[in-house]
Amino acid sequence: MKKIVTIIGARPQFIKAAAVSRVIRNQSGMQEIIVHTGQHFDENMSAVFFQEMDIPEPDYHLEINSLSHGAMTGRMLEKIEEVLIAEKPGLVMVYGDTNSTLAGALAARKLNICVAHVEAGLRSFNMRMPEEINRIMADRISDLLFCPTENAVHNLHQEGYHNFRCHIHLVGDVMYDAALYYGAMSAQRSDILKRLNLTRDKFVLCTIHRQENTDNLENLRSIVDALNTLHRKIQVIVPLHPRTQKILRQNNIEPGFNLIEPVGYFDIVELMKNCGLVITDSGGMQKEAYFYGRYCLTLREETEWTELTENRYNLLVGCDRLQIQNGIESFLGRTVVNPVPLYGSGNAGELITERLLNSIC
Ligand code: UD1
Ligand code: UDP
Repeated sequence: MKKIVTIIGARPQFIKAAAVSRVIRNQSGMQEIIVHTGQHFDENMSAVFFQEMDIPEPDYHLEINSLSHGAMTGRMLEKIEEVLIAEKPGLVMVYGDTNSTLAGALAARKLNICVAHVEAGLRSFNMRMPEEINRIMADRISDLLFCPTENAVHNLHQEGYHNFRCHIHLVGDVMYDAALYYGAMSAQRSDILKRLNLTRDKFVLCTIHRQENTDNLENLRSIVDALNTLHRKIQVIVPLHPRTQKILRQNNIEPGFNLIEPVGYFDIVELMKNCGLVITDSGGMQKEAYFYGRYCLTLREETEWTELTENRYNLLVGCDRLQIQNGIESFLGRTVVNPVPLYGSGNAGELITERLLNSIC
């Protein structure tokens, strides 16, 4: 039986892995060992996803978090190596672009264990982003590169990947699988609209957590100002990542809009399905907005999901107050009608599992 070790540690990875693990578990030919690095650890940043998405309890919990990039990645590397030596898997699966992704890929590669990278080929072309470094490094040392989009495949070809000993597979986006599967249950499983007394289309959903926004106070203040202005017109709900919570508190910034704790997956899906607009710097939520027919303003200068901006479902507004306000005027209250299909058929998990079973790893 093929033994696979899955490395996960941060919120988006729980969602991505849930979509694939569900299929792997139905395959008698594979055994999956789950390693949680501990990068995200609050109940509402970690455990809630395991419960709601029915992800098996991790076989290993490394409890590594709240460290600098180097220390976090270094300690993960050491601990994941121990697990891999003990488990001797045929293959290690890593997801996305976090420090947990890089540590998992590197630990496996150094032990000559095959690496499969889900969400390969994405690029922001901004080397100041920690995620860009993580994804470039993980791609380069992976054997199986599962790309969500044609743009991602194109990026790899541009970097000469056809000359490397690796296999590139265009499978679609696992987040789309998750949106279809879990999205069908969200109305039954979440009462957030009632809890927060929200009416469809009469609120804006926003999240902010990216380092380039949180660690630059000028940028953060500019975003907060724009949201404060918007909140006077329409309610702005912000489930706030702990990174951003800490920085606002430390700098005595008290936003006037509606701050709530991070919410579980069914709650965020219900918020996305029912809001009038999504404003975010999240990678995942840019696509989820589109999956649920909402327009999105992205609080960044560039995006990895360029097909969304090319089709004008998403507008890059950076953190400039005026650009955010102009974006709001263009998009608020509009819904995406007949969207062009961009992220596959919702069967990325099946395609990945099939390739894993048939790979020589
Ligand atoms: C990480 C990823 C980022 C991803 C994001 C998803 C890297 C380099 N970054 O960023 O790509 O978009 O996750 O949310 O891997 N914290 C808590 N409780 C938690 C989790 C985090 O308090 O449950 C605090 C940590 O103590 C730390 C801060 O939030 O002070 C940042 O956490 P960290 O995991 O370093 O990075 P993220 O910003 O979450
Ligand atoms: N999310 C959630 N609760 C929240 C905010 C986000 O469940 O309060 C989900 C959302 O579906 C998103 C996913 O977490 O796609 C990814 O998280 P995040 O935005 O933190 O990371 P990124 O996608 O930018 O790496």
